[in-house]
Amino acid sequence: MSSLLAAFLLLTSLAFTSASTVPLRPGFYADTCPEAEFIVKDVMWRNMMREPRSVASVMRFQFHDCFVNGCDASLLLDDTPNMLGEKLSLSNIDSLRSYEVIDEVKEELEKVCPGTVSCADIVIMAARDAVVLSGGPRWEVKLGRVDSLTASQEDSNNIMPSPRANASLLIDLFERFNLSVKDMVALSGSHSIGQGRCFSIVFRLYNQSGSGKPDPAIEPKYREKLNKLCPLGGDESVTGDLDATPTTFDNRYFKDLVAGRGFLNSDQTLHTFPETRKYVILFSIDQQAFFNAFVEGMIKMGDLQSGRPGEIRSNCRMANSRPVNVLLES
Ligand code: HEM
Repeated sequence: MSSLLAAFLLLTSLAFTSASTVPLRPGFYADTCPEAEFIVKDVMWRNMMREPRSVASVMRFQFHDCFVNGCDASLLLDDTPNMLGEKLSLSNIDSLRSYEVIDEVKEELEKVCPGTVSCADIVIMAARDAVVLSGGPRWEVKLGRVDSLTASQEDSNNIMPSPRANASLLIDLFERFNLSVKDMVALSGSHSIGQGRCFSIVFRLYNQSGSGKPDPAIEPKYREKLNKLCPLGGDESVTGDLDATPTTFDNRYFKDLVAGRGFLNSDQTLHTFPETRKYVILFSIDQQAFFNAFVEGMIKMGDLQSGRPGEIRSNCRMANSRPVNVLLES
């Protein structure tokens, strides 16, 4: 390919994109799309009425998006012949769900203010709304993100934690993203809403750490219940509640952990380890302390940026323009 053509492709590609270094701020769409926050909340509410779990499923997107190369909606890109996206990564395949809720938000927004609101910002607004609609705290979200041009299944595989993770692994992982032990425990409190699959817990019910025995931290009555839900050799796509009040965002999750009734190993471990236990106990007795720490953690997680060039996608599932290297290779 001639260098002239290469330079042309580079310029046209850059014309479609902008570096994602613009500082994030509340009210970013106040002039360009004042209805944006209302539309997101309205679509989330309608989906919750249709299927209560959907808001929890959408809230999870913020974690799985922001940890993998920043909050850039890379998570939402479908695979292409040239790119293995994040939807089929180890933590996401057969597990993340309700992508269609984001599609619905995007369609509504494109009708009212085309090409204006990024999918990355939709994820952040929707996560906040999921918490509010479930009875949790409300906070002002910072906006102004751009959408990635690509996604990486490999990065998602390398970064996202397994349900088998213990507290010390989780502390180290979150530290890499500037999130403290307190942030990590508070953010795990997102499991106050939603469900998990038997697939994610059978090892701890029947063969914790290769012992051939259940996790001793599970309270016996709760273990009986989980054994019935997830018999050995049974259907691992069956789901169970992550806490005793799975559609209400409250501190019941932490009370359950104190009682040995955590669903995932990565949940119960927070009570087993002294460094995290003190926050589990604090949040179990002081819901406001949980809400404050959770909001702080969500805002910090929402600040994660890759600094790579981006765009405002018109469809959250695919990039508008292709990245320079792909253009040059084709
Ligand atoms: C601390 C590390 C974390 C681990 C190891 C973890 C792991 C998991 C797993 C294994 C599930 C169930 C998936 C399945 O069985 O298909 C789940 C569900 C969920 N996670 Fe996490 N998670 C973590 C942190 C977070 C954070 C930080 C958030 C959001 C801020 C979050 C939000 C959720 C939600 C809302 C659900 C329920 C989703 C639904 O019902 O569809 N998680 N998580």
